[in-house]
Amino acid sequence: MRHKVDFLVIGSGIAGLSYALKVADHGSVAILTKTNLEETNTRYAQGGIASVTYKPDSFEKHIKDTLIAGDGLCNEQIVRKVVTEAPVQIKELIKWGSHFDKNKKGDYDLAKEGGHSEHRILHHKDNTGFEIQRALSKKAESHPNINIYSNYFTIDLITQHHLGKKVTRKSNNIECYGAYALNIRLNEIDTFLAKKTIMATGGIGTVYYTTTNPIIATGDGIAMVYRAKGKIEHMEFVQFHPTSLYEPGKRPSFLITEALRGFGAILKTIDGKEFMHKYDKRESLAPRDIVARAIDNEMKNRGDDHVYLDCRHINAEELKTHFPNIYAKCLSIGIDITKEMIPVTPAAHYLCGGIHVDENGKTTIKNLYAAGENSSTGLHGSNRLASNSLIEAIVFADSAAKDSIKSLSDSVFIDEIPDWNDEGTSLTEEMILITQSLKEVRQIMANYVGIVRSNLRLKRALDRLEIIHRETEDLYKKSTLSVKICELRNSVNITYLIIKMAMKRKESRGLHYNIDYPFKNKI
Ligand code: FAD
Ligand code: SIN
Repeated sequence: MRHKVDFLVIGSGIAGLSYALKVADHGSVAILTKTNLEETNTRYAQGGIASVTYKPDSFEKHIKDTLIAGDGLCNEQIVRKVVTEAPVQIKELIKWGSHFDKNKKGDYDLAKEGGHSEHRILHHKDNTGFEIQRALSKKAESHPNINIYSNYFTIDLITQHHLGKKVTRKSNNIECYGAYALNIRLNEIDTFLAKKTIMATGGIGTVYYTTTNPIIATGDGIAMVYRAKGKIEHMEFVQFHPTSLYEPGKRPSFLITEALRGFGAILKTIDGKEFMHKYDKRESLAPRDIVARAIDNEMKNRGDDHVYLDCRHINAEELKTHFPNIYAKCLSIGIDITKEMIPVTPAAHYLCGGIHVDENGKTTIKNLYAAGENSSTGLHGSNRLASNSLIEAIVFADSAAKDSIKSLSDSVFIDEIPDWNDEGTSLTEEMILITQSLKEVRQIMANYVGIVRSNLRLKRALDRLEIIHRETEDLYKKSTLSVKICELRNSVNITYLIIKMAMKRKESRGLHYNIDYPFKNKI
């Protein structure tokens, strides 16, 4: 089937939905989402959304905290943009129906997380993402110009390549004309022609075995832009959240929000001893890279599988009121957090790099924008400050929407684009090849490309991955497309990019730590 829309939105998290809502009064919008509208990383966000609200907080303080966390690689102009535009975007979220908690005085109840010098995190209990996703989904579903295509898996972007023209990484005139997407229910591949396309496919967490990300986070958007020869950067900066609930065999891992440490919870080793003072004067509230590495080091030195987070000293009623979901989840596995310590371990959580965009959310491919976790805006540098990603997503969705609307009349549909051709392919009966390769990818990433890296580990990871890459490309060419084979191919592309960029960085900075280069280069 062929579709023609002014705006094609790939992804239904905070980035995709807020872009869609901002452009919808100016043309037709199609939102593609690979499962249902609600199943996104956004939905699982716990701690909240960072924005300066009240004194003594100030833009300068939020900017400074973001720059410190980013460890020298933030683009200061972009940091200023996000921080100063944040309050307006928070107002928009509230206008669209999101609720944030208030205190008895009627002021917003601001939380504090690692690396923040002030209380500045707006939140809705401990399930802020669920609340934002609920409000945006409802709004998008009721807009007459928005069509939602659930269970549509986007396979590839359409560019001049599909008109038989040569496109290379050096081409500076690549244009995006839309995308091919698999209608999962009918097993058919549809062609979506669009004047403007935005990539908002979220994170990559599932390329690691232990992750807080839901199963949709396979890095599809970044892999698609890479294959379309767009610029991808900073993939080595994978953020591990220090505290995911230790539940062996459970995937994804349940997050224990950093806001709990902001509320007074303390990290301890299995024998109940505090250890963070050995690593940073901010102790349990140091930025994430420092805390995750400290936990990793304690676990390795002691041979333990986890550490503990202790909240037993916090008022039990307040704990239950502020963190009802964490309380309920832990209780469901037999841990009463008011009386017992919570076993936690680091887990792959967030990607700081991705599709390069400028201050308007424009990628290096004409008519293609990116926003949200799959983009690399320059805000996070080498380490994201907690709760800075939801706000980044909506600020950049806004900029991309403004630019898309302004230039819509310059873009045209390219009717000559052919439909997808799957001649000569057949349904693979060898599902085991796909599932085993995916497992191998996750093992490679866990064993050799984790919190601490070395030249030898990265080289070994690349050697192993090259075999899986060859096998996957062979299988992909022969197979009628399925979600699983596409996700495997995308995961292989993503891990390749992470490893290659990690090998290029000959220093340790932010989230990338290589024992062979334990120093920082001058910038
Ligand atoms: P997502 O919300 O992940 O949406 C991605 C969308 O893309 C989905 O609709 C998916 O179906 C779709 N998609 C993907 N691939 C395809 C494809 N091939 N075809 C079609 N559709 C596709 N950040 C904060 O700022 N504060 C927090 O408190 C916070 N807590 C977090 C807690 C957890 C457990 C996790 C996992 C993350 C948290 N983060 C937090 C990070 C933040 O939630 C994400 O970075 C952000 O929600 C990403 O939004 P997004 O719109 O970019 O992508
Ligand atoms: C958390 O609640 O700890 C997650 C916050 C984030 O990832 O920004």
